[in-house]
Amino acid sequence: MAVDEKRFIQDLHKLRQFGAAGVGKGVIRPAYSEADIAARRWLAERMTEAGLTPHFDPVGNLFGLADGPSLLMGSHSDSQPEGGWLDGALGVIAALEVARSSDQPISVVSFQDEEGRFGVTTGSAVWSGGLAVAQADKLTDHTGETFGSARAAMADLAAGFVDPDQFTGFVEMHIEQGPSLDAQGDQIGVVTDIVGIRDMVVQFDGQQNHAGTTPMHLRRDAFQALSLFNTRLNEQFRNVVTPQTVWTIGHVDVHPGASSIVPGRVRFSMQWRDGDSDRLARMDEIIRTTAQGVAEEMGMGLSFGSLLGLAPVAMDQSLRGVLEDAAEQIAPGRWRLMPSGALHDATNVSRSMPVAMLFVPSIDGISHDFAEETAEADLIAGLKVLECAVQKLTSGM
Ligand code: GLV
Ligand code: MN
Ligand code: MN
Repeated sequence: MAVDEKRFIQDLHKLRQFGAAGVGKGVIRPAYSEADIAARRWLAERMTEAGLTPHFDPVGNLFGLADGPSLLMGSHSDSQPEGGWLDGALGVIAALEVARSSDQPISVVSFQDEEGRFGVTTGSAVWSGGLAVAQADKLTDHTGETFGSARAAMADLAAGFVDPDQFTGFVEMHIEQGPSLDAQGDQIGVVTDIVGIRDMVVQFDGQQNHAGTTPMHLRRDAFQALSLFNTRLNEQFRNVVTPQTVWTIGHVDVHPGASSIVPGRVRFSMQWRDGDSDRLARMDEIIRTTAQGVAEEMGMGLSFGSLLGLAPVAMDQSLRGVLEDAAEQIAPGRWRLMPSGALHDATNVSRSMPVAMLFVPSIDGISHDFAEETAEADLIAGLKVLECAVQKLTSGM
């Protein structure tokens, strides 16, 4: 039986209704929010209809299990605080469509907290053995809520962890979330490697004071420390980074956050990504020494939160080859090999089995934004490449 394109698109739109927000097709569905849990319950029902056995594990990862050994496909269904309708959702719904139309055993997964409300791809990191549950439970989001207390909202659904040995491999389809495919007019990307990432919270502690009476030369303004740190860091990185290296200060908490108070504390996220582990380590050193220099010069206290991260990972050659052949069959001359600058659950899953990934274009390269979009023809092309790859895998090519 062939994949049903109409049903696939309809289900993508149904999943979008959970947490639908903002203009266009935006969603707000962070891990363990009401919308996220409702979406997972809805997905579990679709899995049952597809003849799979739904299974929630202790951290909220949802599996739809086929009987016996199977190929695992999927992604995640949580979103960024302001996210698009396809990030993660596409891979889950495409996996569901392939599983229910194939006569081969395909299991489906939606990992929890891929978007890192608490950590970095937390659900798949725990499931794959990269992060102990006890350690994960101590991670906090930006409001101070712990992973342990957030996952309690799904405790009524939770069974044990699924044994990864029952899966022969993992294939994840995703939107590119960058500009390359769209700019080149290509329809499919077959992923070669996923970049590595490091992420930590940094805090400067100065002196909170009155914004009218405190002379500039007597201030210990924590925001000014962050401002100087950012300028220096960009200078320091210049001799170390490549055009592919990226770094981001995406969350800043200036305390207490009032127009008439010199900020006494600033807490901010520092994240950096690159395909080379040595460069990630070098950047780590630069971040720490630059922050120390600023703290000494400006009389600030300085602390670093725990360092989270994932090493760069190459895709499995053989599984990747199957996706390449399928891409050439479905989109001849309109596919390319490419690295992934975004992080994916596949990085963690590669600890347990061969993994491969497939991309479809993101219009104008926009993602992690309500405006994220992909042409319907490209979504369907991706689905067909997955279907074709499953046929090739099970027919022994
Ligand atoms: C995943 O969403 C990432 O941040 O790359
Ligand atoms: Mn994603
Ligand atoms: Mn994402």
